[in-house]
Order: sequence, then structure tokens, then C-alpha cells
Amino acid sequence: MIDPFGRSITYLRVSVTDRCDLRCVYCMAEDMTFLPKAEVLSLEELDRICSAFIRLGTKKIRITGGEPLVRRDVMTLFGSLGRRIGAGLDELTVTTNGTQLARYATALREAGVRRVNVSLDTLDGPKFKAITRLGRMEQTLDGIFAAKAAGLAVKINAVAMKGVNEDEFDAMLAWCGEHSFDLCLIETMPMGDITGDRTDQYLPLSIVRSRLRKRWTLSETDYRTGGPARYFTVEETGRRVGFITPMTHNFCESCNRVRLTCTGTLYMCLGQDDQADLRRVMRSGGSDDALEQAIVEAIGRKPKGHDFIIDRRQDRPAVARHMSVTGG
Ligand code: 5AD
Ligand code: SF4
Repeated sequence: MIDPFGRSITYLRVSVTDRCDLRCVYCMAEDMTFLPKAEVLSLEELDRICSAFIRLGTKKIRITGGEPLVRRDVMTLFGSLGRRIGAGLDELTVTTNGTQLARYATALREAGVRRVNVSLDTLDGPKFKAITRLGRMEQTLDGIFAAKAAGLAVKINAVAMKGVNEDEFDAMLAWCGEHSFDLCLIETMPMGDITGDRTDQYLPLSIVRSRLRKRWTLSETDYRTGGPARYFTVEETGRRVGFITPMTHNFCESCNRVRLTCTGTLYMCLGQDDQADLRRVMRSGGSDDALEQAIVEAIGRKPKGHDFIIDRRQDRPAVARHMSVTGG
């Protein structure tokens, strides 16, 4: 599938649930209301849409949420998608908060997953609790080490927050080096109503990078995971550190992805509201052909870039839906 700007769309991110067992401050309100079950696609429906994407040339699928591993029986979806690896699909990955990884790491590996992204914003227990509201850091760490033991490559995702974890990136880089994890730092994005004020917490990664450079030798790489991160090799550890700066437009031109929510809504851009309702196509008895047509038509509307509002004094988010709807 080629979009109107000549970009080849080969990467699908699939949110399998909007629910999560954590309530990270930058992601959710404390009292989130989640979707009624009837609106959420069954695992069979999710598999059907993924299959249509694979037939249309999708090479990589990432399962996200909310927290994907809290969805009941989610391993059956990993199983069925895993069987497509080598038969159309090149890679199946997952983004998780790690709380359920101790339980599922081996099963994920057996299903064909080779890499996991785990969100961990701090190595300080009380701070972890403050950021996630409901989490226990030990549980996530157990999950991370279970993933490593199961032979999964681990990338740690940390959202950079001014005055919260900005004093920790040296330590986190060292810790990742010690355990052979890559680290990816993410700027906060103005998505979804949350309880606090994001403006206070915005920390440009350009600042973080120059601070890191005081202690670490960061060499530019052209390493790409098919994502928007810019990666550097940390010469002292041999691991990579990536920076995701969504507020700049630098990655839209090479965007290769679209996002499916757990209700079957396809978003062509994380930072735009245009969408296609694939659930309606399926639930009104649409054939596989009709489903493929709806997908191709939607890709034909993929916008050139996102519109995150740069004016951070605005008190409304640039995009109303929460990150847990589209899974980042
Ligand atoms: N801005 C930036 N990153 C976010 N994430 C969730 N919400 C936001 C936000 N508003 C991150 C999570 C996870 C990844 C999928 O997205 O921490 O690492
Ligand atoms: Fe859950 Fe991830 Fe959102 Fe945190 S950032 S509340 S772990 S979905």
C-alpha cells in the first residue's frame, strides 16, 4: 500500500484494549471510564483485520493497548499472528508496561515475538508509584527480567518529564547498558484529557541529549526500527539510546504506519482525527474484499503530517483521544 505522498505503509499498530492496570499521569485521568465490551472487537475480529492488512503488504505488526497483556486470552491472538511470520509478516512485536510479562514472556517468545518495548520512566520505587498511580516497580522489573531470560530483546521506553525523572537519565542509561537493553526517551505528547498539567512537564529532548553528552559518547547511527526514533550508540555501553520528539515534524515524511484501535477504528495519523470505521464494515456483514477496500481507501487519505499544537500554553490537548486508545 502506497499513500498519496509515496510512503509505503507496511507497519500496523494494533491496540487490543483501552484498559490498563496502571494510570500513568501523562496518559490517563485517575478516574478513566473504559469502553463497554460490546464496542471492543473480539480477538477473532482483530485477527481478521490484521489478516487483511497482511494480505495488503503489512510486514510488521505491533500489539499495544492500553495494556495489551491485561486482555483476556490475548495469547491466542499472538498465536494466530505469530503463525503468519515468514508467510507475509516479518515481525510481531509488543509494547507493554511489563506488569504481566513475568507470566507471558515465554509464551510471547514461543509465539514468535523477538522484541518487546517496556515502559519504565524511573528506577526509583516511590517515584514509579507516583507516576503510574497504581504500579509497583518490582512487578515491572520482574517482567523485564523475565523477558530477558526468555530471550526477548528489551527496549525501555521512558517519557521524559521535567522535574520528575530528568535527573535519572544518566543512571537509566547505565542500568540499560548493564543489562543489555536499549533505551528510548519520549517527549510528552498533548493527547487526551489528563488530570494534571502537561505544560509544566514538557522537557525538550534536545536538552536531555546535551546533558547526556557530558557523560556519554553518543555516536550518530542510521539505525531505524521503522519508527520515528533517532538512535545513537552509547560508546561506553555498546547499547543504543533513541529520542522520540513528536513535537517536531521530522519523522512524518518517512511515516510507514497506521493505527487500529480496539474498536476497529483506523487512524492514519497519531496526531490527526481522520479515521475509518472498519468495525462497521465487518459487523454489517462485509466480505474480506470489502474490508480490504475500506483499508485501501483509508490509506488513500493518509495525511502528510500531524498537527500537534506547538503552543503549549493551550490548556486543551491537541488530540482529544487518549494515548491508550491508539497505543502510541
Ligand atoms: N506522551 C508521550 N508518551 C506517552 N505514552 C503514553 N502517553 C503519552 C503521552 N501523552 C507512552 C507510554 C509508552 C508509550 C506507548 O507511550 O509511556 O511508553
Ligand atoms: Fe497504562 Fe501505558 Fe497508559 Fe501507563 S502509559 S496508563 S502503562 S497505557
